[in-house]
Amino acid sequence: MTLKTQAKERVEKLKESINKYRYHRLVLDKPLISESAEDSLKKELFDLEQEFPDLVTSDSPTQRVGGKPLSKFKKFEHPKPMLSFNDTFSKEDMEDWFDRVVRTLGVAVPESESARLSFTKEKLGGFYVELKLDGLAVELVYKNGILETGSTRGDGKIGEDVTNNLKTIEAVPLKLSATSSKFQVPSELVVRGEIFLSKGQFEKINLQLKKKGEKIYANPRNLAAGSIRQLDPKITAERNLDSFAYSVVTNLGQETHEEEHEILKALGFKVNKHNKLVKDLEEVQGFRDHWEKHREKLEYEIDGIVVQVNDNRIFQKLGVVGKAPRAAVAYKFSARESTTKVKDIIVSVGRTGVLTPVAVLEPVEIGGTTVSRATLHNEDEIRRLGVKIGDSVIVGRAGDVIPDIIKVLKELRTGKEREFYMPKNCPVCGNKVVRPEGEVAHRCVNKNCPAIKREAIYHFVGKKAMDMPGVGPKIIDQLMDAGLIKSAPDLYELKKDDLLNLERFAEKSAENVIGSIHSKKSPTLAKFIFALGIRHVGEETAFDLAKKFGSLKKISETSLKGLQKIHDIGNVVAKSIYEWFQNGYNQKLLERFEKVGVIPESFKVTKQSSKFIGKSFVLTGGLEILTREDAQAKIRELGGDVSSTVSKETDYVIAGSDPGSKFDKAQKLNVKVITEKEFLEMIK
Ligand code: IVH
Repeated sequence: MTLKTQAKERVEKLKESINKYRYHRLVLDKPLISESAEDSLKKELFDLEQEFPDLVTSDSPTQRVGGKPLSKFKKFEHPKPMLSFNDTFSKEDMEDWFDRVVRTLGVAVPESESARLSFTKEKLGGFYVELKLDGLAVELVYKNGILETGSTRGDGKIGEDVTNNLKTIEAVPLKLSATSSKFQVPSELVVRGEIFLSKGQFEKINLQLKKKGEKIYANPRNLAAGSIRQLDPKITAERNLDSFAYSVVTNLGQETHEEEHEILKALGFKVNKHNKLVKDLEEVQGFRDHWEKHREKLEYEIDGIVVQVNDNRIFQKLGVVGKAPRAAVAYKFSARESTTKVKDIIVSVGRTGVLTPVAVLEPVEIGGTTVSRATLHNEDEIRRLGVKIGDSVIVGRAGDVIPDIIKVLKELRTGKEREFYMPKNCPVCGNKVVRPEGEVAHRCVNKNCPAIKREAIYHFVGKKAMDMPGVGPKIIDQLMDAGLIKSAPDLYELKKDDLLNLERFAEKSAENVIGSIHSKKSPTLAKFIFALGIRHVGEETAFDLAKKFGSLKKISETSLKGLQKIHDIGNVVAKSIYEWFQNGYNQKLLERFEKVGVIPESFKVTKQSSKFIGKSFVLTGGLEILTREDAQAKIRELGGDVSSTVSKETDYVIAGSDPGSKFDKAQKLNVKVITEKEFLEMIK
């Protein structure tokens, strides 16, 4: 065998196996080998092709990168027009859509729930629901299994030929292979799908562009489109674009949309694993609500869901209205930003006396919930935004965080808006307010301020502090307003009869509240210290204090210098602890706790483990066996630290079910991610 024939055989094998690994990793989401191993296969192929250039074929995995810049894009006429969707925004819109579908089919709209269900099943074949990706649509044409042309949507009839750019995208197969005996590679195949950019890539590329002083993009979609619709495939390749295929245009005898997805997957296209067949509009709504809530967890942007009649024959029969098929809609998420008006700015007083200005808004729907308040943080933020009472503003919320005012629409002012100033006196107790030098916050320094006490009790009963189930802010408000409690120790002196006199309390609920309070008479020392609400003392510091001193008495007897010496406790924190224990009011508070029988457990010394000492842990997602609090306590007992944010310094991320963005960040930073089971093994 000549060298050349040997090389040819090797090249064929390499191509086949690279394609197989790519398929397992990208399409099945079940990698068989590591990516670096895949890369070294590609390197070998690349080297062979360099040596024998006539072995290079256009479908070779090495041809994804590179290529010569084109002078301009050719036009490409789509075999069938590329349509778009009509949008829906609510349950009612979806019901109207359903009714239109039924009527167009010349049937009376089924009245009962069960009649609608069987109509959907038997006539429509159910609904196929998909995530609506926020990228750009492309069409791919394969001849005898080889990618021949890739084009953009253009005006729907004629698009741009961007084949060379699309070839750089790994998720776009250059060559089709039949991985299931059910489907053969057809001689001609037209497929459509979305090209998009992950959120991580978007941030990375924008940062690079910014550093180079170039224009940055507003969102991943624009950047994805910009990367495809430019002439240098090298640039496209650097952008690491991704793709999901979502429809087969060629008639291969597919009867349902669901089957199209099976075909796509079998031929080597990456399809979205969350797409599925559902049986009725209720399930459609469930799918939409789920993804509206969890969209942050996806690595890519979606702006709604796509709902399609699953039976292809009916789909065709329903026809096209304008540029949209009647048998499908894009059911959009509600906007994550909305405009509204600031009706007022009020001030709330927190547990440490900090005054927080809060905007009272005309209620608006944002991301599925009604928002009527937005935090303004502090006076500096108000000045930065330039917000006045009466202003029109843009309000937004990312994920589950408290809504924020993003921007003031000054051009919409009428002249009647009023400037807001932080009050000189506490809105609750009337005492003077101070803004300590170097701080952004205004504070009420009256230890007896009812607002501070109220917040302090909220904190005391909270989950991370004493954890009294069934005793929350609403009940604390009732008890304070009735004059039954003034501070936390009063809780332990409450009698069932006291509660029975209050609104909404019956025998059982009163017993439950009393029971919940009394079940927490011997908390761990660390929890108790945290529950006291000392400024700057979070869970971690509370634990360090408990470990170091073993009792409250010892902490209270320690000098400021002594506290400053403790590792991990800075000067500001030490001063705050020292002052708290010196304060007469607080000393009385501790005496009262003792009198009512609240005695924290002294700190138990467990044998620390070398696996934990000095190691930093972050928890994300739901745990099954341990509670989050127990897991945190265990880590600390064994000598580790618990943090709430993932950074390069994090040693382990413990990921439970439905992990959040911390999980993604851990992967990005290459931080070790372990399951709850693995964690349990570690603490054994
Ligand atoms: S199917 C009638 N499936 O939405 C169009 N499109 O408004 C049939 N899109 O141009 C396309 N995710 O860019 C389909 N799962 C999905 C989609 C999707 C996003 C985009 C696509 C299209 C636009 C139509």
